[in-house]
Amino acid sequence: MASAILTLLFLSLWPFLLILAAENVTMSSSLTAGENLSWISPSEEFAFGFHQLGNSTNFFLLAIWYAKIPDETTVWHANTEYSVQRGSKVELIDDNIILNDPNGQTIWKALVEPNTSVSYGAMLNTGNFVLSAGTDSSYVWESFNNLTDTILPTQILSSGGMLFSRLTKNNYSKGRFELHFSNESLQLYPVAWPTEIPYDSYFTTMFNANSSKSGYQLGFSESASLYIERGNEEIVQILWQPSSPNSYYYRATLDFDGVFRKYAYPRSSIRAQSWSVVQYIPENICMALTHTQQGSGACGFNSYCQAESGTPRCLCPIGYSLMDPNNEYGGCKPNFTLGCGVDDESMDPEGLYKMERIPSLDWKNGDYASLGPYNQTQCEESCLHDCLCDVAIFHYTTCWKKKLPLSNGRLQNGNGALAFIKISKSVPPPRKPGSNTKRQKQILFGPLVVSKNSMKQHCGFNDELGRGSFGIVYKGALNFGSRNLVAVKKLDRLSQEGEREFRAEVEAIGKTHHKNLVELLGYCHEGPHRLLVYEFMSNGSLADFLFRSPRPDWNQRTWVALGIARGLVYLHEECNATIIHCDIKPQNILLDNHFTPRISDFGLAKSLMFDQTRTDTGIRGTRGYVAPEWFKRVPVTVKLDVYSFGVMLLEIICCRKSVEMVSGYEGKEILIDWVFDCYMEGNLEALMVENDDVGMCDIATLQRWVMIAIWCLEEDPSKRPTMKTVTQNLEGCVEVPIPLNTLSVKSYV
Ligand SMILES: *[C@@H]1O[C@H](CO)[C@@H](O)[C@H](O)[C@H]1NC(C)=O
Ligand SMILES: *[C@@H]1O[C@H](CO)[C@@H](O)[C@H](O)[C@H]1NC(C)=O
Ligand SMILES: *[C@@H]1O[C@H](CO)[C@@H](O)[C@H](O)[C@H]1NC(C)=O
Ligand SMILES: *[C@@H]1O[C@H](CO)[C@@H](O)[C@H](O)[C@H]1NC(C)=O
Ligand SMILES: *[C@@H]1O[C@H](CO)[C@@H](O)[C@H](O)[C@H]1NC(C)=O
Ligand SMILES: *[C@@H]1O[C@H](CO)[C@@H](O)[C@H](O)[C@H]1NC(C)=O
Ligand SMILES: *[C@@H]1O[C@H](CO)[C@@H](O)[C@H](O)[C@H]1NC(C)=O
Ligand SMILES: *[C@@H]1O[C@H](CO)[C@@H](O)[C@H](O)[C@H]1NC(C)=O
Ligand SMILES: *[C@@H]1O[C@H](CO)[C@@H](O)[C@H](O)[C@H]1NC(C)=O
Ligand SMILES: *[C@@H]1O[C@H](CO)[C@@H](O)[C@H](O)[C@H]1NC(C)=O
Ligand SMILES: *[C@@H]1O[C@H](CO)[C@@H](O)[C@H](O)[C@H]1NC(C)=O
Ligand SMILES: *[C@@H]1O[C@H](CO)[C@@H](O)[C@H](O)[C@H]1NC(C)=O
Repeated sequence: MASAILTLLFLSLWPFLLILAAENVTMSSSLTAGENLSWISPSEEFAFGFHQLGNSTNFFLLAIWYAKIPDETTVWHANTEYSVQRGSKVELIDDNIILNDPNGQTIWKALVEPNTSVSYGAMLNTGNFVLSAGTDSSYVWESFNNLTDTILPTQILSSGGMLFSRLTKNNYSKGRFELHFSNESLQLYPVAWPTEIPYDSYFTTMFNANSSKSGYQLGFSESASLYIERGNEEIVQILWQPSSPNSYYYRATLDFDGVFRKYAYPRSSIRAQSWSVVQYIPENICMALTHTQQGSGACGFNSYCQAESGTPRCLCPIGYSLMDPNNEYGGCKPNFTLGCGVDDESMDPEGLYKMERIPSLDWKNGDYASLGPYNQTQCEESCLHDCLCDVAIFHYTTCWKKKLPLSNGRLQNGNGALAFIKISKSVPPPRKPGSNTKRQKQILFGPLVVSKNSMKQHCGFNDELGRGSFGIVYKGALNFGSRNLVAVKKLDRLSQEGEREFRAEVEAIGKTHHKNLVELLGYCHEGPHRLLVYEFMSNGSLADFLFRSPRPDWNQRTWVALGIARGLVYLHEECNATIIHCDIKPQNILLDNHFTPRISDFGLAKSLMFDQTRTDTGIRGTRGYVAPEWFKRVPVTVKLDVYSFGVMLLEIICCRKSVEMVSGYEGKEILIDWVFDCYMEGNLEALMVENDDVGMCDIATLQRWVMIAIWCLEEDPSKRPTMKTVTQNLEGCVEVPIPLNTLSVKSYV
């Protein structure tokens, strides 16, 4: 009895005794993935071979695992670049272990010293798979020296040894954390995944290494004690105390979540158990990682970490969702658009966003501003009104403002922090109360497929129609529907202006419907694409129409001018939110095949529903058509468009450009100055277009229209007529007043 106990002790204490018990795997033996799966240790506790990945019967891992535990926990795997396919073969051959894919290509082999002869392999009872030269007790190759994420009892890390975490629980690729053992310390590092460059460590144990000595080792003993020793002589430090041996399997694993854990599993268990955690470092990885300045922290970017018994749980803030729905650790993204340049600036931030409060939540790094002394309200307001600010953290009297991506988030009760998270009040594009949401949805979401699929194949975006302020317009074709030609405006995705224009256009046009406006058929706002799909206007722009030769006749021109005026009345007064176009000019008026004018390019449209007097410097008009108040940075009103319309009306009357380079003349000829002079001199005939018989006959209408145009050009916006009055005057329903202060009309070019 006593001798039996002794033998048992010896067996467990002296690994080399186990060699004798090991079953030899002779050279040329092989395993094929999907057929005969493994070589088993004499104790039948460990197996070497092909381990099925998940439920897939086609993909495997060359691995070592616990053969008696139902979940077959792996303790080692060959770090092949790709998962191993069914039909792959591992063979003890050429004095090595060679893994070939089904085509015979070598995808992994053990690093055996060159010219070493190998006589057999063995799966030892310790979990170590070895290649032996057969001559002495030392091994040519050991899986114990080819470290992955786990160490087993009796395994040793020599100085410079590292463990590598997996990427996720089921993905064995190298992950985001490493354990380094060196002469002086044991450290845990996050790495700049997918590279292996370590960031600052999140756990460090220094030990008193005698610099004049070497040979320090990190050991995991039979009784699952983690210790540092020098040579085989002296134990320098014990990191984890021993546990009760024999009745449990033990392992220490650097898990994919960055925690290094000692696990235990009862050896003789009738029913399936699970691994229980005995010890772990660091104590709270959520807090430990906040010392790291770079990287996302224990959790992915924009998420926050909450530790439960050392295990991090990663959560998305309200309004955010997981980047990868299957990976809690992969980070979060806001499920709406944030930042400068994406919101319509004509709306107050209050109309677009609200601030959610979460107590005890903090993102440690990456503030771009710290303000104080502030109170909570000031902090909240400051972030809400700052388009750079996505989140603010308030603590005591300081307000830290942050923008995405947020890193090192953690929720810890009692830390005194209060987080304000900016979230959208609605899913984009933001809708305003009272707008016709049903129609808008049809316009915005209905034809999306059209623009993405049919367009790409049948159009190819080669046929350029023109270039606008923020993007290129292409001609496109759809392969179904009654309208098969479309104009696609592709916005410059690099500029923030373009982003803003996109939103503004979609929002403004989505709510409008009028026969003198270009209809938006659809839009595409996915990934890098920013496309607006319009009905195609077959007869080009008003600019082409007016300045071509021969000139269009008076009747055609009056028809066009009236249509534009009616379209502007609609934008200014008849649709629910006032829309200022801001860039009325002949290039932005398109003609359909009935020569009906259609106002296009709502890129600069500003909705004034919420703030009538907002000053906005983010929009640009086109010089030559822009009212004087534009340059004074005073609040912009619908009268801005009235001025531009006045300039354009003169162009329509005269078929001349508002600004023309004139040869033999000092510089530019300014149309409105010239018209003004002619008007004052009573020389209206000079304005007439050559060979325009109809215009000649209708000199009374021409005079009335010139007066209307001059009225529109009043310097003081309040003295200009509204577009409704302009329309009534053009139609002749109302008598036009003689421009009162015609001397105030000046050009602003
Ligand atoms: C394993 O193979 C080696 C070399 O062929 C041999 O010397 C040894 O006795 C074998 N051991 C067992 C347990 O079969
Ligand atoms: C593996 O199985 C095949 C049949 O499935 C058999 O021919 C082969 O000998 C086996 N190899 C080993 C090493 O057991
Ligand atoms: C594998 O199959 C089992 C039983 O069908 C199922 O419970 C489990 O979720 C599956 N695992 C994966 C990773 O698909
Ligand atoms: C394990 O072995 C593979 C292949 O021989 C090698 O590429 C890898 O670097 C080794 N890993 C370690 C930690 O030694
Ligand atoms: C390996 O052996 C071959 C032939 O015996 C010899 O030519 C070669 O130099 C050896 N290489 C090394 C690294 O020892
Ligand atoms: C450990 O110390 C030995 C001897 O001083 C030295 O050769 C080795 O490079 C050191 N290892 C590391 C990882 O610093
Ligand atoms: C594991 O993750 C890597 C990196 O994302 C990926 O390339 C690989 O396909 C994944 N492996 C499996 C089996 O899902
Ligand atoms: C380091 O080792 C040397 C040589 O064994 C010994 O003389 C010295 O006292 C040791 N120093 C410390 C601080 O232990
Ligand atoms: C956006 O986030 C909120 C809050 O987390 C969630 O209720 C909502 O379903 C999300 N919406 C989408 C479209 O993902
Ligand atoms: C915060 O400070 C502002 C400005 O000093 C003050 O108007 C407001 O009442 C304060 N709010 C609270 C809740 O103290
Ligand atoms: C405009 O809003 C009013 C209520 O505010 C609503 O009754 C009307 O239908 C809306 N008209 C359009 C064209 O959206
Ligand atoms: C206008 O469009 C019609 C119909 O597409 C076409 O027949 C006509 O030639 C066009 N006129 C001009 C001036 O482009």
